[in-house]
Amino acid sequence: MPSIAGKKVLVTGGAGFIGSHLCDELLAKGAERVVCVDNFFLGKLENISEALKSEKFVLYRDDARHFGVMQSIIEKEHIEVVFNMATIALNYSFFNPFDAYMVNVEIANTLLELLKTGAYKTLIHTSSSEAYGSAQYSPMDENHPTDPTTPYAAGKAAADLMVHSFSKVLDLDISIVRPFNNYGPRQNAEGPLAGIIPVTAKRIKNGEKPVLNGDGSQTRDFIFVKDTVKGLILAYENENSRGEIINLGTGQDIAMKDLLQIICDYMGYKGEWDYRGERTSDVSKLCANIGKAREKLGFEPSMSFDEGIKETLDWYINNNLI
Ligand SMILES: NC(=O)c1ccc[n+]([C@@H]2O[C@H](COP(=O)([O-])OP(=O)(O)OC[C@H]3O[C@@H](n4cnc5c(N)ncnc54)[C@H](O)[C@@H]3O)[C@@H](O)[C@H]2O)c1
Repeated sequence: MPSIAGKKVLVTGGAGFIGSHLCDELLAKGAERVVCVDNFFLGKLENISEALKSEKFVLYRDDARHFGVMQSIIEKEHIEVVFNMATIALNYSFFNPFDAYMVNVEIANTLLELLKTGAYKTLIHTSSSEAYGSAQYSPMDENHPTDPTTPYAAGKAAADLMVHSFSKVLDLDISIVRPFNNYGPRQNAEGPLAGIIPVTAKRIKNGEKPVLNGDGSQTRDFIFVKDTVKGLILAYENENSRGEIINLGTGQDIAMKDLLQIICDYMGYKGEWDYRGERTSDVSKLCANIGKAREKLGFEPSMSFDEGIKETLDWYINNNLI
């Protein structure tokens, strides 16, 4: 069983929400080198401010789509493991569907080409529950059909097919991890690509009504970001995950109207809500079956939603981000 300790690791999208927590945990677990490649489309230097203090951490402001760029970084840094976290957030699908789709496919293509040539040994590829589309049964296991409803999700599903089929045909050392909805500190709070939790808290803080799209019965399985990071590292360390797609979630889903109420209660807001129409392509239900993660990885989420939402909102408030 390989240990992440002592390994030279590259994280694409390492200055983003989940990627930056992954970089911190890789350093904490004793990785010898943690190389972050981020083009700062949505990444932030503040997210990696702690990591940057470590001499084991190095940042490249580069585009992970480009073969030559990635080849030279992987060779120069003697990379053994790549965690592919780079993407452009789902909402970008509504402004630029082509790029929202293609970025996922192009980065996967580059990383597969490099893995095929032996430039590094192991790829931990990050998918998304959005690849499934709305639940046809619940909880959703990894055999659930993929029926993406946005170009972002289609790009994730297409990249997954590519990565999965290459791992079989070329016998490459690859695991695919499929997280459900993440929340926690450092999720983007700015602009049209911001997450629902910081957006809602920010509106309340600014004296605006929280917005509910649709009737609020749509559900999501919210997993705390540090639990996802734990699952990603377990996927590397458990070789029986190679060639597999593995869900990471909690197995519990929450309706959006209940999520909004929890945030309102925490912020002491008793006012009205702004009810808007259903969003184009919003999936109606996402809830993970995490039996495979338990069996293959020994994965168990440790953060309760009550504790996690408190830690998240406190972080935004203490950092003056909302
Ligand atoms: N956040 C969630 O709820 C969630 C759920 C399921 C899966 N995921 C997946 O987890 C991964 C990380 O998501 P996140 O929420 O941290 O997103 P994020 O947007 O916070 O981070 C993605 C990072 O990738 C960078 N990036 C974008 N294009 C790039 C490029 N061409 N080259 C280099 N860097 C590039 C961005 O600047 C950003 O820092 C993604 O693969 C995403 O699909 C996220």
